[in-house]
Amino acid sequence: MSVAQTRRIGSIGLDVRAALKEGMARLRAADVPSHTLAAELLLMHALGRDRAWMYSHAEDSLDPTAAEKYFAMIARRAAGEPTQYITGKQEFWGLEFEVTPAVLIPRPETEHVVEVALERLGARGIKLDMATGKPSPTLRVADVGTGSGCLAVSLAHELPHAEVFATDISAAALEVARRNVAHHGVSGRIHFLQTNLLEALLHEPRVENRESRPFDLIVSNPPYVARDEAASLQREVREHEPESALFGGPTGVEIYVRLIEQAGTLLAPRGILVLELGYGAADAVRKIFRMQERWANVSITNDLAGIPRVLAAERI
Ligand SMILES: C[S@@+](CC[C@H](N)C(=O)[O-])C[C@H]1O[C@@H](n2cnc3c(N)ncnc32)[C@H](O)[C@@H]1O
Repeated sequence: MSVAQTRRIGSIGLDVRAALKEGMARLRAADVPSHTLAAELLLMHALGRDRAWMYSHAEDSLDPTAAEKYFAMIARRAAGEPTQYITGKQEFWGLEFEVTPAVLIPRPETEHVVEVALERLGARGIKLDMATGKPSPTLRVADVGTGSGCLAVSLAHELPHAEVFATDISAAALEVARRNVAHHGVSGRIHFLQTNLLEALLHEPRVENRESRPFDLIVSNPPYVARDEAASLQREVREHEPESALFGGPTGVEIYVRLIEQAGTLLAPRGILVLELGYGAADAVRKIFRMQERWANVSITNDLAGIPRVLAAERI
């Protein structure tokens, strides 16, 4: 739609309900998945209001500036841009995260990584030792391939006595993660490292002059799509999300081999490794654990769609 058309729509006194219906119709015509939700989110963003306000003011006329902004965003969404890159935000673990095209949009299934990590940590995740009443020792946590920082921030939020090391190979992603960490007030407990997986931590005495101690928990949602599966990805993902966040090598499993090896070196005895799994990767990843002799209690958790999604293991 041209800017002139947008102005005309704004100037004829379109109300909120009509704008929403028009946005939905344009997205449906462009075969946008979940077009109703997308139109709602974009209108809420254009208005700077929540859903309750939008539906209780359905007959209010839309001011021309909001209408122009809204229909411009509808056009971007219809052209394939993900809603979250247009609005610049996505919720994860009940917290709002800034997202830009430099980072993967956090997915709901990745919340299972947080759930499993907290479950596996059990009493170690509690700030006060229940038996002695004394503060529990600081937990050392690493999030490999932090992207937006959604896992690092959520874990820092849930584990107030944790110090988190968040790594990413992408400097641009780390910039976004830094802003999210500051926004959620956990900057003092999260350290960023631009490195390949956990490499900088393997040589940690050289990193930030920190005490070198083994880790209690390492989590990761690594890039796990196979190169030759690129064509099967949704257009939104293939054309807009960062390649470095998607592809994990020719089969998608290669990155797990290096990651599990490095995590085995860095985790303390009884330390926990929690990994998100790519679709169909569970058997291959489980095999990697079997081949290394330092792991016990390997478990796999399905996501809400019944797909094996998270693998957890304990360092012997
Ligand atoms: C699938 S995204 C996950 C982002 C975020 N943790 C989440 O769950 O939404 C993978 C992230 O790993 C980063 N990455 C890719 N290869 C890496 C590597 N070799 N070392 C460190 N980070 C890497 C990407 O830049 C991307 O931010």
